Amino acid sequence: MTTRIGILTGGGDCPGLNAVIRAVGKSATKRGWETIGFLESFEGLLDERYRILNYKDMDGLLLRGGTILGTANKGRFAAKTSLGQVQEVPGELLQACMDTFQKLGLRALVVVGGDGTLTIAQQLFAFGVPLVGVPKTIDNDLEATVFTFGFDSAVACATDALDRLHTTAESHNRVIVLEVMGRYAGWIAVYAGIAGGGDVILIPEIPFGYESICAKIREREAQGKKFTLVVVAEGARERGGDVVTAGPGEKNREVRLGGIGARVAAELERRTGKETRVCVLGHLQRGGGPTTFDRVLCTQFGAKAVQLIAQEQYGYMVAFRPPDTVAVKITDAIGRLRTVPVDGDIVQTARALGVSFGD
Ligand code: F6P
Repeated sequence: MTTRIGILTGGGDCPGLNAVIRAVGKSATKRGWETIGFLESFEGLLDERYRILNYKDMDGLLLRGGTILGTANKGRFAAKTSLGQVQEVPGELLQACMDTFQKLGLRALVVVGGDGTLTIAQQLFAFGVPLVGVPKTIDNDLEATVFTFGFDSAVACATDALDRLHTTAESHNRVIVLEVMGRYAGWIAVYAGIAGGGDVILIPEIPFGYESICAKIREREAQGKKFTLVVVAEGARERGGDVVTAGPGEKNREVRLGGIGARVAAELERRTGKETRVCVLGHLQRGGGPTTFDRVLCTQFGAKAVQLIAQEQYGYMVAFRPPDTVAVKITDAIGRLRTVPVDGDIVQTARALGVSFGD
């Protein structure tokens, strides 16, 4: 009987999901295995909604954005609803997933996702479903891997935005604030801020004060630089303040962050008198195809995931420890956000160049 494996993509989409599907599909085919893809994350596993992924279906997937399987970051599976809060997936849902898994004669499942998805995966694994994880998220906030895939692509998008904002800010002598994603971690803001020459970078890990940002703007003015680029992570907050949310939270869903950019821009304009504009990059960071780096990383991750299944190394997630991919326990990756170390090299590098973190 042909060995069959399943794959699903969960949580918010990001560039590279299809590249992972391709790598898993191709590596499985090479071993003579069949791959089936569950639609819309665990929902497809629960409802037996899937498609068989033939070799021909892998065509063009390396560069294609989104996920051909669809994904979900809400619905019946909600293991994470807010920062640090984990919920148990009801036993009957886990059992129904197990039933589909057995009915389809699967050997193992590849679960591609971030903290929320892998938290569900871990519960499914503990319930008895053999599976391996692949770390996805533009936020780069998963423990136990140096990079998640999707992050580099999001940074490339934010960097491109900064390059464009740079020229218009300079032409008009304006302050321009770019709000980027990243949830409670400032990785996208720091990397894009450095790559795009941001003057001020505001991240959740370093609460800011407006006086300090205004001082930076004034310092630049004194140096003859009449424009300033401010990169603000959506999860950044003023010292003593709270994160800004985009609206009331939905049941069984993580709160939506957003709005800090507009708040910072308004306050900077009020305090400095300089014309200030805001640009919210939003889901542009999640759309489109992966960068070269992410294509390679996704391919390494997908191939490694199939290798782990061949070795029956279940309950593990593939991780990037440059230059290699390794296997780490899923439990070592979830439940704790990997945030930007405030005294780490990346922050020190920015500071060495005079970048202000608003502290
Ligand atoms: O986790 C990825 C992410 O893009 C975050 O950076 C962002 O806060 C969130 O998802 C947005 O989610 P949604 O697409 O549901 O608005």
